[in-house]
Amino acid sequence: MAEVLLIGSGNRDKARELAELLHGLPWEVKCLKDLPAVAEPEEDGDTFEANALKKARFYGAHFDVACVADDSGLCVDALDGAPGVYSARYGGEHCSYEDNNRKLLKALAEMPWHERTAHFSCCAAFLPKDHDIPYLAKGVVAGHIAVAPSGNSGFGYDPLFVPDGEERSFAEMGPEEKHAISHRGRAFARIRSFLEL
Ligand code: IMP
Repeated sequence: MAEVLLIGSGNRDKARELAELLHGLPWEVKCLKDLPAVAEPEEDGDTFEANALKKARFYGAHFDVACVADDSGLCVDALDGAPGVYSARYGGEHCSYEDNNRKLLKALAEMPWHERTAHFSCCAAFLPKDHDIPYLAKGVVAGHIAVAPSGNSGFGYDPLFVPDGEERSFAEMGPEEKHAISHRGRAFARIRSFLEL
C-alpha cells in the first residue's frame, strides 16, 4: 500500500495546486480537509524556508505522516521585496485576495511598466515520516505587476502578475500553463523527482 503524503496547507487554493503538482506519484496524497481539523501554526519565520519547514514539521508530527508544505509570496522590486513573507496578509489580518491586490495597485500607482518588476518565490519542504531531515526545493518566476487585474483562474495575486515572456496574467492561464512556469511548479518539479527516487 502506498505511504500517505500529507499536503500541509490550510489555504485551499494552494492545496489544490499542490495536489495537481503531486498527481500520479506512488504516494497516497491527502489534504488537511480529508483529516480532523487542526489549528494552523503561526507563520512567524523571516524566510520562506523557515515557514515551509515549520508547516511541514507541524502537520507531519501532528498526524504522524510524511508531509510536504510550501511557503510562497510575491516580492516587488519597487517595494524593496514587499510583501514577501507577508504576502497573505499584505492588506491586513484576515484580508481578502482583492484587498491585497487593491493595496498593491495603489502602492505602484503611476509607476511605469519597466519599474513594475517582481517575482514569485516558493520554498517547498518535504519531511519524511519519523525523520527530521527535510528535503527543500525552491522555485522562482520573474515578471511584472499589471496596472489592472485580468483573468479569473488561479488565486491571490495571479490577476496582477504577468510572467516574463507572456502578455497574459497567471489568472488568464489554465492550471497546466501556470504550473509549467510558476514558482510552485518549479519547486515541486524538484520535489517530484525526489519522491520518485
Ligand atoms: P502562504 O504561503 O500560505 O503564506 O501564502 C502565500 C500568499 O502569497 C498567498 O496567500 C497569496 O497571496 C500569495 N501567493 C503565493 N503563491 C501565489 C500564486 O501562485 N499566485 C498568486 N498568489 C500567490
